Amino acid sequence: MTFEVNKAVIPAAGLGTRFLPATKAMPKEMLPVVDRPAIQYVVEEAVEAGLTDILMVTGRNKTPLENHFDRVLELESALEERGDQHKLEAVRHASNLADVHYLRQGSPLGLGHAVYRAHQHVGDESFAVLLGDDIIAEGGQLLREMVRVHRETGASVVAVQEVPQEQVSSYGVVAPQLVDGEFKSAGDYEWPTYWVNSLVEKPAVEDAPSNFAVIGRYVLRPEAFEILENTPPGRGGEIQLTDALVEMAANREETGGVVALVYGGRRFDTGNKFEYLKANVELAIANAEHGPEVREWIQQYAQQLAQQTKNGN
Ligand code: G1P
Repeated sequence: MTFEVNKAVIPAAGLGTRFLPATKAMPKEMLPVVDRPAIQYVVEEAVEAGLTDILMVTGRNKTPLENHFDRVLELESALEERGDQHKLEAVRHASNLADVHYLRQGSPLGLGHAVYRAHQHVGDESFAVLLGDDIIAEGGQLLREMVRVHRETGASVVAVQEVPQEQVSSYGVVAPQLVDGEFKSAGDYEWPTYWVNSLVEKPAVEDAPSNFAVIGRYVLRPEAFEILENTPPGRGGEIQLTDALVEMAANREETGGVVALVYGGRRFDTGNKFEYLKANVELAIANAEHGPEVREWIQQYAQQLAQQTKNGN
């Protein structure tokens, strides 16, 4: 069996209610982060990791996503006539990025169901799942490393990050395997990797087996599909991807088990308003074109705020 990964699945069927009214008439995935829609970062990340066959599992009112990754010939010729090479390249970049396919989820039965819907497209191969709410700085590098861990261990791989204890109930949380009081490593990689004994979806703080939270990047073996097909609704009445991973972790013989890779870089949960704003500021500073002026302005503004605080207003 080989564990090559060529396809990425991006579930994008959510309603985006946390961003209303901004998302009343526009999918949340199209909210801009600096100079492009949030979803473009996720597609770019998959492409950077070498996955150019992308399946988006969408829902109603998601046509703008399809339009964004398609060509707009009249816009291209208008920009060409004006000689605006810079914008022309930006416009073409989005449509040349990857081979993007679309599938509607149908009933909104949960993340596990959205992933299960990808079965026919993915077939009997390992595949990656990227959740659109998470924007990961150096995400391409992370995903490439996850693919490497998968290829070398044959396990399904989840990216995790340590979060403060009070935040564990917003995430899937892993229970790493312990040997003599130490987490059992899965090998020598760019970031620490641990074999996973089990996982819990959004546990109460007192029930969390660790503070390693799953951050919306997965590399899964195709056995996940069979398991998802038989996974009953779990937390929140939804079919949970985490529950399928619990079964894979428990049945290492047949499914290859689960490894957690502890990503040490920056990640933004753009499903959360404050994090979304932070992503805009930090990624604007990291942006080659706008970075220097944004940094200078923020420094000045921070001084102004500090002065106001000092003056008591
Ligand atoms: C989903 C997963 C959860 C994971 C999270 C990462 O939850 O179910 O296990 O930790 O994504 O963003 P959601 O945020 O969609 O509720």
